[in-house]
Amino acid sequence: MADREIQLMAMHRPKNQAGQRQAGLVSIVAALLTVAIIALTAPASALSPDDAKCLSCHQTAGMEKPLANGESLSLHIAGDKFAGSVHGMFGCAACHSDIDVAKHPGDAKPIASKRAFSIGRAQVCATCHTDQATQWSHGVHAALVRDGNPIAPVCTSCHSPHAVMKGAAQAMETVPCKTCHSDIFDAYATSIHGTLRAAGITQAPLCYSCHGAHDIKVPTAGAGLKDTCFGCHKDAVAKHQIWLPNTQLHFTVISCPACHSPTAHRKVDLMLRNSETKEDAVRPIGVPEFQGSPDGAAGDKGLDPATLFTLMQTLNRTGVKNKTSIKGMLEVSSGVEAHKIAAASEAIKNCATCHKAGSAAFQSVTISVAGSGGVPVHYGITKDVLHSAFSIPSIGGFYAMGATRITLLDVLLVLGLLVGIGIPALHLTIRWLASRPTDKPGKPDSADQDKKEG
Ligand code: HEC
Ligand code: HEC
Ligand code: HEC
Ligand code: HEC
Ligand code: HEC
Ligand code: HEC
Ligand code: HEC
Ligand code: HEC
Ligand code: HEC
Repeated sequence: MADREIQLMAMHRPKNQAGQRQAGLVSIVAALLTVAIIALTAPASALSPDDAKCLSCHQTAGMEKPLANGESLSLHIAGDKFAGSVHGMFGCAACHSDIDVAKHPGDAKPIASKRAFSIGRAQVCATCHTDQATQWSHGVHAALVRDGNPIAPVCTSCHSPHAVMKGAAQAMETVPCKTCHSDIFDAYATSIHGTLRAAGITQAPLCYSCHGAHDIKVPTAGAGLKDTCFGCHKDAVAKHQIWLPNTQLHFTVISCPACHSPTAHRKVDLMLRNSETKEDAVRPIGVPEFQGSPDGAAGDKGLDPATLFTLMQTLNRTGVKNKTSIKGMLEVSSGVEAHKIAAASEAIKNCATCHKAGSAAFQSVTISVAGSGGVPVHYGITKDVLHSAFSIPSIGGFYAMGATRITLLDVLLVLGLLVGIGIPALHLTIRWLASRPTDKPGKPDSADQDKKEG
């Protein structure tokens, strides 16, 4: 980084090199180094005469430019804030090299809208911060910007261009995410992580510790954020294995907040997946249930088992290359609830919360596909889908004993045990048998647990 700053100094501050021309290359480099070190260590530098010139007009309060769409762009820049910012030492020209003061503002062109101006001007950040720009371009926010979302953030939505202060993006008071995701921030602030962070414990995660800042992915896609949790909670699997049989399977089908956000409403989300890419499938065209507005509330409305069956048959008809599969996941029902992670002592431990006929967690079911930018859109689906024989080929892989008993599966399971035939039965039997030793003798605690709390 130091090297890059020196290069930048050389590129953008030629005016500081006066008096060194007669010296050789070596001393120029040495002088540049000194300038760089001074600039980096000195407190808020005074503004250069060129910058003062820009500010002679732009420091005027209330200065505005009317835009083509009727908005007005404030042209006021706070010089003192800029001088104290990380970019103060580079001067206005580092980002506004297109402005020629001799012709400006006479040659100023019309601007379509604030949004178009922001998206266009933010390109300049990439000239120095290539890594962050590349990461951002691969993230969900950039995908949303490309899809025309009117508020998804570009660089300057999160880093005010004339006042980027050192460390501001990492502080709880000024973390940029809270401007747009304020409800999630409020939930986070009351969580175990938020409480610790507010108390000054920086090992506790803030938004970007779990999601990243630039390369933000849709958190429910792929394997989700589990690996990020394990990055800090290295012994998490071992700590659960003590009491939770088949921990890996539970971690695959239950999101961490579904147990760790104890007051949350839980629901089953059936994600339509592209079997090849493992990404969420896009909305199927021509299916009436997916044309209307999404209904996350589900209940008894929405897609029914027979329609789902037909849909899966159609999507996977012979000749179709990328098959669509369904991944079932027990989740919390809102993004806000996902952030109310409580102390471990409050987490859901009672097996019967899920493994019981009529369990509340299985009364609400949604089906989701990728919407704009890959952000999932949830549609209602009747909860019968978890119990109907029609669902075996569709969601046979998501089968929580006790809660989602599909009667036919039970019969097949018994038949499978007796005769050893039946394709879905055989598959489930193997899984069931494989999981049995963990909750049989050797591990009496878990069985007791079940009885005690169930
Ligand atoms: C003489 C006063 C004056 C000076 C000096 C001046 N500006 Fe401006 N600037 C303006 C005015 C007036 C506008 C609005 C132009 C319009 O309405 O089209 C403007 C517009 C802008 C805009 C908005 C984009 C645009 O093209 O309309 C930027 C960015 C800008 N100035 C940057 C600078 C920078 C950087 C400097 C120094 C290099 C500078 N200005 C010097 C008066 C000035
Ligand atoms: C680190 C890069 C950077 C530096 C340094 C910088 N600007 Fe800007 N400036 C931008 C960007 C990016 C925008 C577009 C902001 C947006 O999204 O509206 C902008 C916008 C502006 C505007 C239009 C009003 C606005 O806020 O959108 C003016 C006027 C302006 N700059 C003047 C200046 C002056 C004067 C200086 C020096 C004192 C300066 N800029 C230094 C990046 C920079
Ligand atoms: C001329 C090169 C250059 C341009 C253009 C530039 N930056 Fe920087 N930026 C730097 C340098 C160098 C640093 C490191 C300064 C330091 O560590 O003191 C930095 C630091 C930062 C930081 C880190 C702040 C912190 O907490 O330490 C952020 C955020 C940032 N820039 C955002 C932006 C954004 C947004 C833009 C576009 C509006 C931009 N930069 C344009 C050179 C540039
Ligand atoms: C959604 C908000 C958001 C957007 C959009 C965003 N940043 Fe950041 N940026 C952050 C946060 C939060 C941090 C602090 C991250 C950390 O410490 O790990 C950060 C840190 C930085 C840093 C300091 C070095 C680092 O990587 O930690 C630079 C430089 C930077 N951003 C530049 C940019 C540029 C350039 C863009 C546009 C391509 C951009 N940012 C877009 C939120 C954002
Ligand atoms: C300027 C507004 C803005 C800022 C700032 C912002 N976001 Fe976003 N973000 C959005 C919008 C708009 C969406 C699209 C989904 C929506 O409407 O909630 C989105 C989507 C997301 C998603 C995907 C949502 C999903 O359902 O899968 C995540 C994760 C996310 N943002 C995290 C962050 C983080 C972390 C930060 C801070 C580093 C941040 N955002 C800052 C506007 C913003
Ligand atoms: C401890 C890790 C962690 C932290 C810290 C965190 N998140 Fe999340 N976030 C998650 C998880 C896990 C999910 C997915 C929940 C699920 O699978 O149901 C998520 C989901 C999201 C979503 C998508 C919500 C939706 O509607 O589906 C957004 C947006 C988001 N987080 C933003 C933020 C913001 C903003 C912050 C900071 C205030 C933050 N997150 C802090 C772990 C975290
Ligand atoms: C089936 C519910 C359930 C699921 C799913 C679950 N947990 Fe837990 N977790 C618990 C319970 C209950 C405890 C408290 C155990 C105890 O008190 O002995 C716990 C304890 C913890 C602890 C504290 C461990 C310690 O004692 O140091 C961490 C950290 C943790 N879980 C992280 C996670 C992560 C990360 C995930 C997702 C990969 C996850 N949990 C998934 C129920 C669950
Ligand atoms: C940046 C590191 C970091 C990340 C990422 C992280 N945590 Fe934590 N977490 C902590 C710290 C530090 C504590 C407090 C000390 C402790 O109990 O380990 C904590 C505490 C907890 C606790 C309370 C433990 C107790 O003993 O009461 C739970 C539960 C928890 N985290 C779950 C999660 C889950 C789930 C995720 C992923 C969605 C996650 N954490 C991601 C650092 C992290
Ligand atoms: C938060 C809900 C939840 C809790 C709490 C929970 N489970 Fe599960 N469990 C599930 C789900 C969902 C499956 C999923 C299975 C699938 O996809 O086949 C499962 C699977 C299992 C399986 C494997 C069945 C198979 O098909 O292979 C066993 C055994 C099991 N759980 C036992 C327990 C025990 C014992 C406890 C308490 C210590 C417990 N579970 C707590 C939701 C839960």
